[in-house]
Amino acid sequence: MIWHKIAESRIELFSDTSNNLVEIEVAGKKVCLVNNHEGLFGCNARCPHAGGKMVDGYIDALGNIVCPLHRYKFDIQKGRNTSGEGYFLKTYPIEEREEGIFVGI
Ligand code: FES
Repeated sequence: MIWHKIAESRIELFSDTSNNLVEIEVAGKKVCLVNNHEGLFGCNARCPHAGGKMVDGYIDALGNIVCPLHRYKFDIQKGRNTSGEGYFLKTYPIEEREEGIFVGI
């Protein structure tokens, strides 16, 4: 795994979003970043069910990311499909360091 710097701060990443989700491209991968009450997390930009664009979804009250197409829910820390359909959303580690925000690919 290689760490890639993606921004200086969360403010830089999320200042233009209303749903605390943003999609970035890093090292040839499209990653959805999730800013919820527990921290900053990264997951695959497309839903494992039928390819919904996760950045167009939302974060529910428990901090799950919810796909906009069929509203399947995923635990953003482990990728587990918490609404029970049996899918798995790939996650990427994020580190917030003094020198900026990094994602591991
Ligand atoms: S494409 Fe995401 S729930 Fe169906």
